[in-house]
Amino acid sequence: MCGIIAYSGYENAGNIIIKGLEALEYRGYDSAGMTVFTENKTVTIKTNGRVFQLKHKADNIKENTFCGIGHTRWATHGKPSERNAHPHSTEMVSVVHNGIIENYGKLKEELIKKGYVFVSETDTEVAAVILHDEYNRLNDPVKAIISSAEKLKGSYALCIIFNHIPDCVFAIKQDSPLILGKNNNGHFIASDISAFSEYTDTFYRMNDGEIAEITKTEIKLYNLQGEKINISWEKSNIKKNSENTDKNFRHYMIKEINEEPEALKNTFNSLTNDSLPCFSEKLSDDFFNSIRRIHITACGTAYHAGLIGKYYIEKIARIPVNVETAGEFRYNEPIIGENEAVIIISQSGETADSLAALRLMKKRNIPVISIINSEGSTIEAESDYVIKTQAGREVSVASTKAFSVQIMALLIFACKLAISNNRLTENECRTLLNHAEHLFTHDIEKVITDNENTLRAAHILSQAKSVFFIGRGYDSHMALEASLKLKEITYINSQGYPAAELKHGTISLIENNTPVVVTATNKIFYEKIRSNIEEVKSRGAFIISVCPSDAEIIKKASDISIDLPVSDTIMYPFTTATAVQLLAYYTADIMGREIDKPRNLAKSVTVE
Ligand code: M6R
Repeated sequence: MCGIIAYSGYENAGNIIIKGLEALEYRGYDSAGMTVFTENKTVTIKTNGRVFQLKHKADNIKENTFCGIGHTRWATHGKPSERNAHPHSTEMVSVVHNGIIENYGKLKEELIKKGYVFVSETDTEVAAVILHDEYNRLNDPVKAIISSAEKLKGSYALCIIFNHIPDCVFAIKQDSPLILGKNNNGHFIASDISAFSEYTDTFYRMNDGEIAEITKTEIKLYNLQGEKINISWEKSNIKKNSENTDKNFRHYMIKEINEEPEALKNTFNSLTNDSLPCFSEKLSDDFFNSIRRIHITACGTAYHAGLIGKYYIEKIARIPVNVETAGEFRYNEPIIGENEAVIIISQSGETADSLAALRLMKKRNIPVISIINSEGSTIEAESDYVIKTQAGREVSVASTKAFSVQIMALLIFACKLAISNNRLTENECRTLLNHAEHLFTHDIEKVITDNENTLRAAHILSQAKSVFFIGRGYDSHMALEASLKLKEITYINSQGYPAAELKHGTISLIENNTPVVVTATNKIFYEKIRSNIEEVKSRGAFIISVCPSDAEIIKKASDISIDLPVSDTIMYPFTTATAVQLLAYYTADIMGREIDKPRNLAKSVTVE
């Protein structure tokens, strides 16, 4: 789950690597490092910190460097430290790695017996030493890489410098992405296109088992037999990585919440025509007509979007939906029959478990529709059908606007299915989707600006040891998402629960002044949820409700209520999402947390 960038060309490699790493920090930010050639020698610099710290350290050596490799790390083997930061080097090679070498323990033992000494706790150093050993034996870089790959088990994207082959970088990948790029001034290798999109839009997505070699003037690709193979270059329409990253807000997270109306509008407009669903031609009417059951799989916030998607599809189209986290789905031998389809939801399009679920489905010839926000991602490239959401780049690790557009895409998808199923007429669909337009013309903005009670509630939460979120129906899914958002950026222990479940055990944790946040937006549950509120209140809970401004019965039972503009029931997950995101944000801000880059996390989880 790390970020890799490599360059060989006529421009300043140090600057290109640092900029590339800045764009890749979403993949991990525990530590960073780079190796560059200066005057035909390699120099390695590392930091147990962020890329900006590496940038300061690299100031002296950045000039006259035209080739190098860089890395930003999310620790898997070995805690974050300068010693464990990449590149890992021997006197012959320097290596950066994304992925996990699963058999590194056994390989390390064998190498130690051979007399090699290790300085880090990482699996990557084992790859570096094997490459060193094989190069010693074979005296040929490509052959050494091929025979090393035969020994390595697991997933890896490796960029390799052989210290005495100046201005040249080699790469190989297995199950972790690597992208090649070229322009008139040189060649690039990176974990994703955003790392070099400022310099070129010409890219090639490497396949497993391919080996790349880049120099200033040449780029070559080999297969595992060592034979040269062609590169079929493509053009990306990904925006330059500098775009959309400027901050007029204190944090990206609050900037991105404020961008929700625009993101929703853009997604809505791109997936509808005259307020009716309008997907790409590939997603034909025949396809929609044929679907009898849907499976949704995703991770984290995207999984929660899937739960809301289930509500929409079952409610509007009456088609059954199974939702499972991708890390479970991929190992559960999912039972999927004819006329069933799988939806994979991923903001980044790079999440390892979601990608593995996709590949499993492809092996079984099951059609996969992916709902993706990032341009040019691996999941997008490998899916049968793609529904693009239009949130723009999401930088903050906590996902906000991407969640909102995911549920918008699912709502429109549900409408399309319902029309195909004769569950909804076109006119009924127009009326329903017209309600959705209120979200971006009015409702979300109102939640963002009327934030007085959200701030009051945030002050209460910032003092809490633990917080409970409860709801019923789709609001129980929103409770899960609200809880994830809060714990992710505040580090306060919290749990999301279906309100009716609380008394089956968890209620024992309620003490005097324990905050319980109640998401209550569906009228049919008001009476029931009021009873749940009373149950926890009588045990001392402090009630914060998130409910429509006309939900008097809920408001009266609450200590603080965060009002949502009154709307059609189906639209409440959107306004609730904004409200609970703001609640988490303000709480984290009061607590002085590092909101955009919370501890232990990364924006994109590219390992299992
Ligand atoms: O890029 P993806 O949507 O596949 O990411 C899935 C999760 O890792 C992600 O939603 C994560 O849970 C967020 N940090 C939550 O805010």
